[in-house]
Amino acid sequence: MPENIITATYLVAAILFIFSLGGLSSNKSARRGILYGMFGMALAVSATVLNNDVTNYLMIAITVAIGSLLGLILAARVQMVQMPQLVAILHSLVGLAAVLIGFTNHMDAGSHFIGTEKTIHDIEVYLSIYIGALTFSGSIIAFGKLSALLNGRPLLLPGRHFLNILMLISVVVLGWLFVDSNTPEAALTALYIMTAVGLIFGIHMVIAIGGADMPVVISMLNSYSGWAAAATGFMLSNDLLIIVGALVGSSGAILSYIICKAMNRNFISVIAGGFGVTKAPISGDPSPQAEVISIDVIGAATLLNQAKKVMIVPGYGMAVAQAQHAVSGITQLLMSKGVNIRFGIHPVAGRMPGHMNVLLAEAKIPYDAVFEMDEINDDFPNIDVTIVIGANDTVNPSALDEPDSPIAGMPVLKVWQSKTTIVLKRGMAAGYSGVENPLFTKDNTRMLFGDAKTSMDELLVAL
Ligand code: TAP
Repeated sequence: MPENIITATYLVAAILFIFSLGGLSSNKSARRGILYGMFGMALAVSATVLNNDVTNYLMIAITVAIGSLLGLILAARVQMVQMPQLVAILHSLVGLAAVLIGFTNHMDAGSHFIGTEKTIHDIEVYLSIYIGALTFSGSIIAFGKLSALLNGRPLLLPGRHFLNILMLISVVVLGWLFVDSNTPEAALTALYIMTAVGLIFGIHMVIAIGGADMPVVISMLNSYSGWAAAATGFMLSNDLLIIVGALVGSSGAILSYIICKAMNRNFISVIAGGFGVTKAPISGDPSPQAEVISIDVIGAATLLNQAKKVMIVPGYGMAVAQAQHAVSGITQLLMSKGVNIRFGIHPVAGRMPGHMNVLLAEAKIPYDAVFEMDEINDDFPNIDVTIVIGANDTVNPSALDEPDSPIAGMPVLKVWQSKTTIVLKRGMAAGYSGVENPLFTKDNTRMLFGDAKTSMDELLVAL
C-alpha cells in the first residue's frame, strides 16, 4: 500500500479513536463509542499489515489468529466482577510489548542512525523499555491484588522513599551510560540493568499502595501503558502509535486526577505509597457493646411499603451477587406505586470506574434515576429508607469521623442520615480496605444478611 494512503488511514483511525473516547464519556453514547474504537482499530491494524515493510504474511496471519482467539476466549469467559483484573493484566501486556519491541529495535542490525539522530533514537528506546518494564511488573501486582491472590494491604519497606529515589537516580545514570556507550555489550548491559530496576520499581510502587487507593493505581497504570505505547511510537516512527499512546496516557492521567479528587487524595502521596495504613490500632472498630440489629425480608418489605422516598446505594457486593436485575424489578415495582426512588453512586464503588453505572444500565434502570455522590449526598436526611446493596467502604462513616482511619478524608455517601438504612451483605466482613464499618451498629441501621441477589429476589416477592 502506498505510504500516503497508509498515513491517511492512520489519520482516519486516530480521529475514530478520539470519537470513541468522546462516546465513552456517557452511558447513552458508549455503544457508539465502542463501535468507533473497533472500526478505528480494524483500520489501524490493516494499514500496519499492508505496510511495504511487511513481507511475511503467514507469520502475521498466525499471530493475529492466536491473539484474536485468546482475546475472544478471555472476553467470553470473564465475569463482570473480574473485569478490573482483566484490564490490569492487559496493561501488563502493553508494558511487555514495549520492552520486547525496545530490545528488538535496539538489536536491529538494519538500524542506521548516526549522530544526534542516534542519541534521540537511543533515548526513545530507553524510555520505551523503562516505562514498559514498570507498567508490566506494576500491572501484574495490581492483578494479584485485585484478584485477591495477593494481600490488599500496603507493604511498606523501611526507607521506601530513599529506595525509590535511589532507583530513579540509577535509571538516569544508566541512561547516560547507555547513550554514551562505546560498545554494543556496554549498551546492552546498561539496558538489562535498567530493565531490572524498572521491574523492581513497578513492583515496589504498587505493592506499597493500600486497598482503598487501588482505583488510582489502575488508572495510573492505564496512563503508563499509554505513555509506553507513545514512546514505542516515537521509536518506530509510527504516528498512529504516538497519537493513540498520548490519548491513552493523557486520559489515564486525567482519570487518576479525577479519582484522586473524588477520594480526597493527593496524587503524589498515593504514588509514594503509604495510604491505607492503619495509624490507630483498629480504626472505626464498632465498640464491643454495640449491637447489630438484623431484619428479615418481610420486615424490609414492610418498611419499603411505608416509604415515600427511597435511595439505593449499590457497591461491589451487588456486582458479586449479580443482583442488578432483581434491583431493577424492585425499582420498577416501587416506581409504579409512586415511590420516589433514586440511586446514589460513589465514584469508586465496585472495582473499576463506572462499575455500578454499567451494571445498572445493563439492568435497564432509567438513567435519570441514577445520581453521582455529590448530587445527592445532602438529600439523605429526607430519605425514608436507604438500601445499601453490598457497599461497605463507600458508606463508612469512619472516613469522616475518625481522623486516624486508613480511609480518613475519603468522601462517603452519608446513608446513616436517612430515617432507616437497610444494609444487604452476607456477614460482618470488612470492605476492600479492610476497615471495620460502624454503620452496621447504628441505631437506625438494619442488617439484611444473605447473598444480595437472593435477598433482593425474596424482597421483590414479599413486596
Ligand atoms: P467494598 O468496600 O469492597 O465492600 C463490598 C461488600 O460487599 C463487602 O463488605 C461484602 O461483605 C459484600 N458482599 C460481597 N459479596 C456479596 C454478596 N454476594 N451479597 C451481598 N454482599 C456481598 O465495596 P464498595 O463500597 O463498593 O467499595 C469499593 C472499594 O473498592 C473501595 O475501597 C475502593 O477504593 C476499592 N476499589 C475501587 C476501585 C474502583 S475504580 N471502583 C478499584 C479498586 C479498588 P460480606 O462479605 O460480608 O458479604
